[in-house]
Amino acid sequence: MATNRTFTMIKPDAVENGHTGAILEKINAAGFRIVALKKIQMTKNDAETFYAVHKERPFFGELVEFMTRGPIIAAVLEKENAVEDFRTLIGATNPDEAAEGTIRKLYATSVGENAVHGSDSDENAEIESNFHFSRREMF
Ligand code: RTP
Ligand code: MG
Repeated sequence: MATNRTFTMIKPDAVENGHTGAILEKINAAGFRIVALKKIQMTKNDAETFYAVHKERPFFGELVEFMTRGPIIAAVLEKENAVEDFRTLIGATNPDEAAEGTIRKLYATSVGENAVHGSDSDENAEIESNFHFSRREMF
């Protein structure tokens, strides 16, 4: 996959709170092209696998519980410098530390329930996209 792609999820808190449309609009306005998009509910096994890098962290159980409690929007996005630019668009993990106008500043409720995920490297963007989408679902 090209390195100008990133992977995102609109997390259960933001979907529950009705922010899906507003977040997709911000993503669109920031110049990202949607390569793939779907609404799904992750299983416990999905969430444990997706966030396996955090399995020793004290918040892991809470994170898995949160990510599986309702549907998410999964998407692959394309833009020059996608990974870094998307992390800038979503803001810091903790919404209290997120810059004004970022998606987390606008829509996150706490450090745990922080509205959106964004890949942290080109390598993880590819792994995460392939976790949620087959090749024929990405255009
Ligand atoms: P993400 O992977 O979801 O894009 O978030 P991130 O890179 O900004 O943050 P990361 O360190 O990868 O943490 C993954 C997710 O775990 C939850 N978390 N909870 N309670 C806590 O202290 C805590 N810390 C992290 C958040 O949902 C965070 O986005
Ligand atoms: Mg992360």
